[in-house]
Amino acid sequence: MEKDLNNMKYDIKNLELAGSGQMRIDWAARDMPVLRGIRERFHRERPLEGMRLSACLHVTTETANLMLALREGGADVLLCASNPLSTQDDVAAALVAHGIPVHAICGEDNEVYYRHLIAAIEHEPDITMDDGADVVSTLHQKYSHLLPRLLGGTEETTTGVIRLRNMARQGKLAYPVIAVNDAQTKHFFDNRYGTGQSTIDGVTRATNLLWAGQHVVVCGYGWCGRGIASRARGMGSHVIVTEVAPIPALEAAMDGFDVMPLQDACPVGDIFITATGNTSVIDSAHFARMKDGAILANSGHFDVEVDVIALREMATEVSTVRPLVEEYRLTDGRRIYLLAEGRLVNLAAAEGHPASVMDMSFANQALSAEYLVKRRGELAPDVYTVPLEIDEEIGRLKLLSMNIQIDKLTEEQSRYLASWESGT
Ligand code: NAI
Repeated sequence: MEKDLNNMKYDIKNLELAGSGQMRIDWAARDMPVLRGIRERFHRERPLEGMRLSACLHVTTETANLMLALREGGADVLLCASNPLSTQDDVAAALVAHGIPVHAICGEDNEVYYRHLIAAIEHEPDITMDDGADVVSTLHQKYSHLLPRLLGGTEETTTGVIRLRNMARQGKLAYPVIAVNDAQTKHFFDNRYGTGQSTIDGVTRATNLLWAGQHVVVCGYGWCGRGIASRARGMGSHVIVTEVAPIPALEAAMDGFDVMPLQDACPVGDIFITATGNTSVIDSAHFARMKDGAILANSGHFDVEVDVIALREMATEVSTVRPLVEEYRLTDGRRIYLLAEGRLVNLAAAEGHPASVMDMSFANQALSAEYLVKRRGELAPDVYTVPLEIDEEIGRLKLLSMNIQIDKLTEEQSRYLASWESGT
């Protein structure tokens, strides 16, 4: 239940974990040079002074560094979890010790998850920062009286951006939201290399399996799927990709993966990983064809990609055989293993993306919040992409931090390219 520290309300597992959380936050900070630079400038310039900001993000070490940067910019920040299983309780404790209210407990049930979300809304934010659009959607459905005070929001992930674009199309979005996910310095790196590596990490930590020689089926060849498939191949697995769209399917084929319908992949696959943003991607027809011992994991935003309800209905017995590994025994004796209840495996079973990619994603978040304040009153309710100047500046700063130099256009080259653009 909610607790009080110097009049600050928070709800976390255990404040005594703050010490270990702080050590891990500092460790992540080493790999977040771009965000560090922003934090230092925010400290000097205070661009978010007076802003109330409610963030609903995975409570990880990287998110903690973002929260500290936003506060350094003058924002009155509150953080709640964007997933019931992804909270790192020690990080939540460290943030509370910093005086930042956190409402998040790893393993919280749906009721607590929504109670925490409502705490974020009752913070009466000027700016929302979402990962999956739960705050935006709950605000619109149940707290519409708060909408007029909102100057803007940001959205971290593909699924959230899809939800917001639907709201905007239907004329239901009441304030401007920046689709951080769509920045090139976000999805090219976070979705691909971050999800790729951390998904392999999550499955490995949950199962301790050997990837070499396994048949890995990756459902969805978008940004996340590309990363997962390439990293699984790097571990020595035979990778099969399934898709519903022709162009990513073609890309997967030309990247050298086997591409086939999921039904055909079922008897072959040892490990199935979904990353589609879609629902019931793996369902009863697929469970019926899988090998004894097949392992299922999801890296898409919501826990609906594997039809867990259908799996439960087909099972005669369900037991937990390792932390975050449930064995479903089917009537014919086959066993199917579901990791992390079908929730984001990279965050539930591992630590989420490495700090180095979150450096860019969260630099986009911080600069987008600053942009919303600068453009206050100028942006109509809609979904906006991160301005290219911000995206490119983050790319430049990241290269600089990696000590990588690139060439500059000569004057002649600039004139040449400009002449094409102007048609002369
Ligand atoms: P994307 O839009 O780039 O790719 C999704 C792909 O899945 C598309 O190519 C689509 O055609 C395909 N697809 C849709 N339904 C399918 C089905 N039934 N079978 C096979 N393929 C299907 O999206 P992105 O960026 O790869 O994100 C995927 C999901 O992962 C989203 O829910 C996103 O929010 C989430 N995400 C998760 C992260 C994590 O840390 N685990 C990080 C970033 C995104």
